[in-house]
Amino acid sequence: MDELKKIAVLTSGGDSPGMNAAIRAVVKTGLYYKLEVFGVYRGFNGMVNDVIKPLGREDVKNILPLGGTILKSARCEDFRTPEGRKKAYDNLKKHKIDALVAIGGDGTFTGAKIFMNEFDFPVIGLPGTIDNDLYGTDYTIGYDTAVNTVVNAVDKLRDTAYSHDMVFIVEVMGRDAGFIALRSGMASGAGKVLIPETKTHIDDLLERLQRRITDEETSAIIIVSEGDDFGGGMEVKKIVNDRFPDLSTRVTILGHIQRGGSPSAFDRILASGLGYQAVRGLVEGRSGVMVGSVNRQIEFVTFDRSIKHHNKINVELKKITEILAL
Ligand code: F6P
Repeated sequence: MDELKKIAVLTSGGDSPGMNAAIRAVVKTGLYYKLEVFGVYRGFNGMVNDVIKPLGREDVKNILPLGGTILKSARCEDFRTPEGRKKAYDNLKKHKIDALVAIGGDGTFTGAKIFMNEFDFPVIGLPGTIDNDLYGTDYTIGYDTAVNTVVNAVDKLRDTAYSHDMVFIVEVMGRDAGFIALRSGMASGAGKVLIPETKTHIDDLLERLQRRITDEETSAIIIVSEGDDFGGGMEVKKIVNDRFPDLSTRVTILGHIQRGGSPSAFDRILASGLGYQAVRGLVEGRSGVMVGSVNRQIEFVTFDRSIKHHNKINVELKKITEILAL
């Protein structure tokens, strides 16, 4: 690679708390290495449509505690086509940009990998998703905040569940991954957690409710991952109602509130450290890798591996949660 002078940063896919902290780290580390840094707006769309602007210290002032992403985010159809990617490459070249930091999930890395190979253009990825489903890092940026958001919500729901003798079925995000459900379930003392990684035996849930519900106690919290094989919160409610018609059940779908909000201290630290390492990686001539943190060590995992493999869930947490809820 020629000498690195100008780099760009973008956020793509679903936003996650801590993306701004990562952008700030990329900009400030870039300046430390005497690089010019550019922001690409709305993910790969900004590359295709030339919405690329210089980013300086002033632009990232006070963004560390902000949720969302100042660069905005999007999924980009044009970038899936060779013509779209050629336009993107030409625009980067127009600005004399030498390398890119792409913050996002596996969709982002899939696009980045194709682009990198097509044009021999250096790209480093940062894991930005609340789902924590990326191989090559113990934690993704935004996951810890999302879990805390769920726990805060469930704590509130528990008040009402107890006061009104209700069963709350709380549906949380995670299209293909149960990390949010599992960790928030344990932290909020849920009675049962349903996740896509393990087969859901609905009879177990019904049996458990049967045991739980007595004359004195009829409240319970069930956490369901949106991607669970049995279905979402509404499906679970239906079967619970069929079996226990006298039970008062409610479904709360937490939805996109899990993606928003100020990042936790953990996510700020993670994003800052990984953002710094991404720029260092580019300076050292790395490309085609995602920067992750594994056992508190910085690791660079190829896009290929990160896309092909899944972060492994610790199923034991599910068992512990259920034992402790009895
Ligand atoms: O990948 C992050 C995520 O929040 C998933 O947990 C969720 O299924 C999905 O994005 C929702 O995407 P959209 O905002 O496009 O509905």
